Amino acid sequence: MKEGKKTFYVTTPIYYVNDVPHIGHAYTTIIADAIARFERMMGRKVFFLTGTDEHGQKVQKAAEQKGLSPKELADRVVVNYKKLWKDLNISYDFFIRTTQENHEKGVQEIFMKLKEKGDIYKGIYKGWYCISCENFLSEDVPLNEDGTKTCPDCGKLTEIVEEECYFFKLSKYQRPLLDFYSKNPNFVRPKGRMNEVVSFVKRGLKDLSITRTTVKWGIPVPDDPKHTIYVWFDALHNYLTGIGYGWNEDLFHKFWPADLHLIGKDILRFHAIYWPAFLMAAGLPLPEVVYGHGWWLKDETKMSKSKGNVLDPYLIINTFGADPLRYFLLREIPIGQDGNFSHQGFLHRVNSDLANDLGNLVSRTLTMVHKYFDGEIKEIGEEEEKDRELENEFENLKNNYIQLFEEYAISRALEEIWRYINLINKYLAENEPWKLAKENKNRQRLARILYQVLAGLRGVAYLIYPVMPVSSKKILEFLGENVEVELENLLDLKFSDFKPVKKIAKPEVLFPRIDLKDFLEMPEKKEEKMEQITFDEFKKMDLRVAEILKAERVEGTEKLLKLEIDIGTEKRQIVAGVADVYPPEKLIGKKIIVVANLKPAVIRGVESQGMLLAADLEGKPIIPFFEEDVPPGTKVR
Ligand code: MSP
Repeated sequence: MKEGKKTFYVTTPIYYVNDVPHIGHAYTTIIADAIARFERMMGRKVFFLTGTDEHGQKVQKAAEQKGLSPKELADRVVVNYKKLWKDLNISYDFFIRTTQENHEKGVQEIFMKLKEKGDIYKGIYKGWYCISCENFLSEDVPLNEDGTKTCPDCGKLTEIVEEECYFFKLSKYQRPLLDFYSKNPNFVRPKGRMNEVVSFVKRGLKDLSITRTTVKWGIPVPDDPKHTIYVWFDALHNYLTGIGYGWNEDLFHKFWPADLHLIGKDILRFHAIYWPAFLMAAGLPLPEVVYGHGWWLKDETKMSKSKGNVLDPYLIINTFGADPLRYFLLREIPIGQDGNFSHQGFLHRVNSDLANDLGNLVSRTLTMVHKYFDGEIKEIGEEEEKDRELENEFENLKNNYIQLFEEYAISRALEEIWRYINLINKYLAENEPWKLAKENKNRQRLARILYQVLAGLRGVAYLIYPVMPVSSKKILEFLGENVEVELENLLDLKFSDFKPVKKIAKPEVLFPRIDLKDFLEMPEKKEEKMEQITFDEFKKMDLRVAEILKAERVEGTEKLLKLEIDIGTEKRQIVAGVADVYPPEKLIGKKIIVVANLKPAVIRGVESQGMLLAADLEGKPIIPFFEEDVPPGTKVR
């Protein structure tokens, strides 16, 4: 166990904005989210970074084909990514875009630092370039019969490049890299991938071209702007600029070096060879682990837009919600391996593990608690020898689970939880509460049995939280736990801390069973259909004009603003998720519409006494402002 560790910094790759996200992209982000949620549950301060890679030839070309400028394309695609992350309940702390100013400045600063140090020098590059991988081909790739070259990684035709460029002295870092790998054999995971990296470096490293003069869409070299910086040099540095390098030193020093860079195996070389070499050159500490996960395949080939075999995550989310998709992706294969996505596989996993094993257990138990005790179990009989197994096994499960999660063996951790769920099912079958319920004299014994099952389910609900946050909270709510209070440290979670003080909820279906026919006929997108309301119902809403007096960011969030508003009769504080569109200073003095009689709520530790109205433009909030001079407090109808 990583004792004494107080912070945890996890990253995903930043995704190219040439196209919409698919299940493959969602996979990396879901793994990162589960790990971030787990780490928070261990009491660590987590920073979870994701974002988009917006420069380079690939994006430039995609924009040209769509008749847009690269920035316009990026702005559109970013909305899709942010929406998908919201719909998948991804709890990232910051979304970095490589076109943002503090990133561009940071990259230029490091570039100049390495240049001054002599690790970057000018020369001529002649060779082949794969636009799809944004990669310079190694010289040993053979020519095709017609004199062209095919990219060995993606199978696409490459183009020949001959131009002046700046080189990074990668060759100088061959020895230091090999020394680093041998001192840190767990740097690359899974283990097999470390061997691949070491043998690659042992074969010799050539200096790397890190600027282009024929690519316009990139960060210019400050003192030689006809060169733009190579997109991979630019992109990798997001891991520094995303946590404050060059703009928030405290934040940067709090979290750097990263604990975990999660990536697909396709981009291992960039992260395990170039990235540590750049960091060594800049004199910065190296990340702890680079984890190269496997690919999701469809029809046995890597899912990718160009092959036309991608699966739209919304096909699943719209029908089943995010949790089953998250569970399937994390449970089906260990993180290092490839997996084949099939409708049947998804269906089988969800029906058997979620609908049958867990969902049924929850609903059967709640039904019994209602049928026999009207939702309240009070006089609980003594714990007998045979009841102890569930309690003891929970402690074992928790410890194994923590160890497995810390090794990023999420699929194994889930397997352990399901082993325990089966144990609860077995306990119910052996103790036959339905028989005991026939005689009044057994009430205390019956209460004990149901207590044991509920306490076990409570434990399970906490442990599934990183993978299925929505279902976890639902189960905890059924049991009357206070879900607003986050678990501070998983290590303190005890089976017997379950106190059935509140009435247990009536059963609800947690995971509906899926029918293959319905699944295959799933509609592309479901339009939300709203119920009609009466005018009296509408009148219940107290809508008023309010003036924004103060606005500031809610610390540790990317989107939330704390606003002080004047609603005519009083001043109020509200929290609004609008910071990604409106910087706080732009809002001061603006007049908006608020729901003034909404029950107060605490959002990220800040009380919100109302809500502002805004249009939801694919996840982007657009606030209607008043142009006329309307006094605060005026009613809106
Ligand atoms: N922009 C670079 C990364 C720069 S990081 C400094 C990039 N972007 S990408 O959009 O092409 O892909 C990013 C990642 O998406 C892959 O590394 C991988 O994590 C994930 N995946 C894309 N397709 C995938 C599958 N079919 N299966 C699993 N993950 C895949 O590369």
